[in-house]
This record gives sequence, structure tokens and C-alpha cells, in this order.
Amino acid sequence: MLSLLNLNDKWLFTKENNEFYVEKQIDKAEPVTLPHCFNAIDGQSGDGMFKGECCYQRKLNISNDDINKFIFLEIGAASIICKVYINGQLAGGSECGFSMFRVFINPFLKAGENLISIMVDNRSHDDIYPLMADFSFYGGLYRGVNLIISEELHFDLMDNGKNGIYLTQKNIDKDIFELKINGKLVNELSEAKEGKIQFKLIDKEEKIAFSKALDIKVLKETKFELIEEIVNPNLWEGVENPYLYKLEVELYCENKIYDKKIIEIGFRTVEITPDKGVFLNGKATKLNGVSRHQDFAGVGNALTKEHMDLDMSIIKEIGANSIRLSHYQHNDYFYTLCDRVGILVWAEIPFISVPTTSDKENKNAKDQLERLIKQAYNHSSIYCWGVQNEITIAIENETIYEMVKELSDMARKLDSSRFIAQANIHSVANESSLNELTDLVGYNLYYGWYYKEMQDLEKRLDEFHKTRPDIPVMVTEYGVDTNPKLHSYNPVVKDYTEEYQLLFHNNALKTFNERSFVLGGYVWAMFDFGSEIRNEGGTKGKNQKGLVTIDRKIKKDTFYLYKAYWSKDFFVKLAGSRFINRHKELNDIVVISNLDNIKIYLNSKFISEINTNEPMKTFNDVKLTLGKNIIKVEAFDDDGNIYTDEMILNRVKEIDKNYILPKHEDEKHVINWFEKFDLSNVQEVAIKEGYYSTFDTIEKLYENENAKEVFRKYFGDLSETPQFKVMKGLMTIDSMSKRSRFNIPKELLSAINKELNIVPKKQD
Ligand code: GCU
Repeated sequence: MLSLLNLNDKWLFTKENNEFYVEKQIDKAEPVTLPHCFNAIDGQSGDGMFKGECCYQRKLNISNDDINKFIFLEIGAASIICKVYINGQLAGGSECGFSMFRVFINPFLKAGENLISIMVDNRSHDDIYPLMADFSFYGGLYRGVNLIISEELHFDLMDNGKNGIYLTQKNIDKDIFELKINGKLVNELSEAKEGKIQFKLIDKEEKIAFSKALDIKVLKETKFELIEEIVNPNLWEGVENPYLYKLEVELYCENKIYDKKIIEIGFRTVEITPDKGVFLNGKATKLNGVSRHQDFAGVGNALTKEHMDLDMSIIKEIGANSIRLSHYQHNDYFYTLCDRVGILVWAEIPFISVPTTSDKENKNAKDQLERLIKQAYNHSSIYCWGVQNEITIAIENETIYEMVKELSDMARKLDSSRFIAQANIHSVANESSLNELTDLVGYNLYYGWYYKEMQDLEKRLDEFHKTRPDIPVMVTEYGVDTNPKLHSYNPVVKDYTEEYQLLFHNNALKTFNERSFVLGGYVWAMFDFGSEIRNEGGTKGKNQKGLVTIDRKIKKDTFYLYKAYWSKDFFVKLAGSRFINRHKELNDIVVISNLDNIKIYLNSKFISEINTNEPMKTFNDVKLTLGKNIIKVEAFDDDGNIYTDEMILNRVKEIDKNYILPKHEDEKHVINWFEKFDLSNVQEVAIKEGYYSTFDTIEKLYENENAKEVFRKYFGDLSETPQFKVMKGLMTIDSMSKRSRFNIPKELLSAINKELNIVPKKQD
């Protein structure tokens, strides 16, 4: 029988990059247990993050018996790339830093003691995704390692799939599902093997829904397929009733079990319409979603099951029914949790921000897509495969369309039972043909944060729907950075306060709920996460758009706003409880609750009552006396239960400056930074053949000293930043001008063109 042994203990680790460690024991080693991340601290500090090749090493004893069996190493994931050596010989590796992979190691093993050395490298590579993104590229063997010891006959362990078994469901009539089970068997020996595969579908009460056996004869490899009709199954009904069956698949040979798999499956239908949204088993279901990255304070991405259970319990508490697992393949256990909790999942690959310019085949994106789909195929919670995120950040052109098309065609071929999706940056025009390449389109919309006003969200969605009535649309990201230490009576954009986050999200939720064509949204993000490039909002190294802090300790006020909209568990919560020192006498007290009837008390004295079904309710002008004030609220349900919350506010004479972030000088300057240039006398410039222009990539401009000088005159050392280094082969000044963050007016573009148009290109 195939056995799986956990190899997470007894590893040695060093950051020293030394090729001898491939075959020799590390001398100055740190003992570590997996999962392990070597950027646990610096990946979240914002003070520079270690990037390099590190070595993990471990001894492995193989018995005289086992050496005659078939032995595989199973690596949960290694970020970003890795090479596996056994006794000094290269046995395998991976360039898909978020996927599981296996290495067949028999050819390199001996009976007795063996040395495993795994070199893990988290440096950027220009053909391995992600190339550039707003999250830390943690390094490590961050999902653990197993040893698989198998008999000569087993389900295919090496086809990218976890089990070499795929379950495909199709609703063929009202209550009838067709279940196809297919896969591949492998015989490691040259002599044919005969046996059978026994399939059993078992319901929650342990009753057998069907039992079937297939006779098999395997020479080297044999494919198998079984198609069964499942009549009137209990349905997987999302968070309301995530009913799962289990399929037991046993491989018998010579009356012995050789291999056994248990796969959970939920029967459900998902329909997506461009005008009425999503239907789960025929029932209209708004996608009340959150996005999640896989990291945690102080451990980087080396998450344990406990971390994942905690995340899921917080997501359950908020009442979400969908998660976007961004921006890469997550731990298989997390998809399992989603199956069990009834969460609809958007799964995706890190084809994000900028595409490679060095690999025309775009092989790494395809490899990551194939692994994601094949490894996560059996998770009933997944309803779509996301093939790109903001891939047009630097430039939008036909080459990119072709890349996205290839990926979406490939995803369709690998899995015709799910939707193909993409998440676009706001600058992709509604009319863009990019929007036609997938079954549904998500837009990441930050109106009221990076650009324009928050109310522009509704305008954009309505315009999209008008222009593209046949394309289902949703908002795949929206959010604002929020530091729970910062507060304001008059919240405004970029003040990073909890109060602004509340306003922003309340507007977004209303916008989605008022529009049946909007499939739903994914809050950016459920949790704050490590992003080494960030330094804003009073914190370094983190993106603070989470509803919960990166240590999962503080649930920001907006967390409760979502809970009030989405959860059926009654509660009441006073917003502003961290805004303790109040310098105004009259205060509007905001109460968040999914109950209508609320009473408020000040220092035990009843002051007023509200009855409204708005999740966010305001008691105006509550008068605080100098010093300590106890605010208490009570909420009532129809059964006479009372829910309460309390906070202490301290009335002070002077404004507490700790709640306000000092404005940086350079932020003001961003508004009209180009004013120092003379733009009074510019006209349209006709582009001249053989001369540089704003349509050349920055890399091209840099090949010529004069053209480079023009760029530097206007943009300074911008191109020296790590982000720009990745983009300069793609980005042109013209494409920069289409991104609001560069704030380049048309006149400036003409002025730059005028100067570039007199610099001749070298003739080849
Ligand atoms: C982007 C991107 C995210 C990023 C977010 C942000 O649009 O897709 O990965 O973290 O916006 O700016 O916070």
C-alpha cells in the first residue's frame, strides 16, 4: 500500500550560497522545521528584504526493504524556484513557486543514509511569475515536504495532479448529475499487472450512493474512465449547506490494496449571467467576497493548518460566501476548507502586472496554470480560473491580448466545466477586446483612493454594463489602506483612517447591492499583507487595505460593517472605539449592527433609540463631558435577546495629533509636478520615422544617451526603481501617460515628443 511520510522535521538551513552544499553537509547550519520561510520578518518590515539562493538539507534513511519500492519526494511548494539534489545529484526542481511538485528519487537513492539538499532561490527572474507585484516574494520551503513510498502499481503521481484522478460533474437534467471519474494508472515494472479499481460514492450518513468496480490491466500506463449518473443528490448549497460526498477509490492487485484515495465532492450548478448575476443551483447569489493572500505576521508565507483554520474562521464570521485566492495557487488545504465551508472560489495564477519579454512562449504562466488546474481540479468550491491580474499595468497591446487568449484557451481545454475569468486594471477601456477573452470580467476599481471619487464606482459599472451588456462583470478589488491607529472627524482620501475605510466600503457595498448585473465583489483585502515595496499610512512593508491586521489581532471597524451586511449572526458594535481621545464636545456615534433596534446609553443614562435597517447607524451629537465617558449600546432581536457593546471615550481639550498622519511634502508636489516645465508653446508633434518618440520603450530610449537624458529630465531616476526595471522593456512614455498615477498631461507628452523627435535612431 502506498504510504506518505511527513518529512518536516530535522532540516538544516543556511542563507549562504555555496555549491558544495549540494553534496556536503552545511557546516554552520540553523536547524529548522518546515514549513519555513526565510523572509518571515524582513518580508514585512519594509527595511529591505533578503533575496538569494538558500539551502535546506536533511538526512534520509532508507531501509533495505524500501529501496526496492518506488520513492517520491512531495514538496508542498518552494518559492520562487528550487532544485532538489539527492546525494549530490540533481533529481528535479520547480519554477512554479506556488504549486506542489513531486520528484522521483529512486535513481539517486541508496539503502542507508542519504542526503537531500534543496536549493531555494527567491530572486526575481524575468521569465518566472510574478515579475512584479504588490506583495512580498517570500522565499522558503513554505508548505512542507512528504516522502511517498509506493508499490509498483499506483495512480499516476507525476502528471501534475495530486492523485492522477479527476472528477468532473455535469448537470444533465433537472436533478441528475453525470459524474465522470478519469485518470491514469502507472506500472513501474515491465511485466503487466491485472487488478481492479473499486469506486464508492459515500454520503454524509456513510450510506453508499454507488459502488462500481473496473477491471484493469496495466502494462506501463493505463487510462481509466467511469461515468455514472447521480440522481437527485444532496446539493452543495454554498455556505448554507456545503454538503459533500466522498468518493473512495481503491486500487487492488493480487487481492491487496496498492493505492487508495478519498476525494470530497459537492454537486452543484453555477450559472453566470450578464444581467442578473450568479445563480448557485438556480438560486440568485450575490458574490459577497473577500480576497486573501497567504501570509501572516512573523511567519511570512510559512502558514500552518492552524493559521489557515484561523483565517477561515474569521472569513466565516464576516459572513462571506466567496473568496478570491489571490494572486497565485494557495495551499491545497485552503481549497479543502472552502469546499467544506461552502465558499465559492476564484482561483488564479500570478500572471500579474507585467508579462515577460524574454520568453515569447510565456511558458511559466502556462506551467503555473496547468498545475493550478490539475492540482485543484477536484475542489467543488472553485467556480472559475483567473488567468491574469492587471497584466496591462505597463502597456496594453496585441501581444498581451494574445498571451491572455492563449491562457484562457488552455484553461478551457484543461477544464471545460468551469468559467474562465480575468481581473483588469481600471484603465482597460470597456470597449477593449481584452474583455472578450474570458467568460466573465473582473475590474479592480479604486475610485476614491488612487483616483477620482468613490461615487465614480457606480458610474463606471453602469457605463460598462451599457457598453458591454453581454459580458458578466464584477469588482475583483476595491479598498483603501487603513491604519487602525489613525482617526478623523472628517475622513478624507489618503488619511488612512478607520473612518474613511468605513465610508468607502459602505459606498461600494451599496453600489453592488443596488445593481443585479454586478456579480459581486472581492474586498481588497481580507487581511493586511506583506509588501516590501510599501511605506505609507504610518507603516512600512505592508499593504494595509485589510479588514483585519496582518497578525489577525485587530478587526478594523469595516470588518463589522461587512458582518452587518452579510452575516446572519446578530451582533452590535460601536465604531470608533480606538478613537479614544475626542477633542469635540458633540460626537456622532456610529453603531454597526444587523439588528434594527438600538438603544444608546451614556454613563449608564439612556439617551436615545434608533430603528433602521441600515447596517451603519448614527446617533448624532452625543455630548461628552471632559474626561472619561462610557458609551453603551443595546440591540434587540425579535426573540427578546439583547446584544451589547461598550466603549470608553476620553474627552480632551486639544486634538490628539497621534491620530493624524503628517502630510509628506512630496505628496503635495505630486499634484502638478510638471509645472516646472514650460508647456506654453507646444503643438501636436508629427512622429518622424527614424527618430525617437514617446512610443519607444524606456529601454530603447536608454540605448541612446540623448534620448535617455530627455527621459531623465522629465522623470528623474524613476527608471532606477526596482518596479521600473521590470517594466522598462514594455513601458513607453505614451503608456505611462495612460496611467493616472503618473499624472502626465497631453501638453507634456507633446513637449517630450518634440525633444525626442530630434534624436535620430542608429540605423542597423
Ligand atoms: C492592485 C493589485 C493588488 C494590489 C492592489 C493595491 O490593483 O491587483 O495586488 O495589492 O492593487 O494597490 O493595494
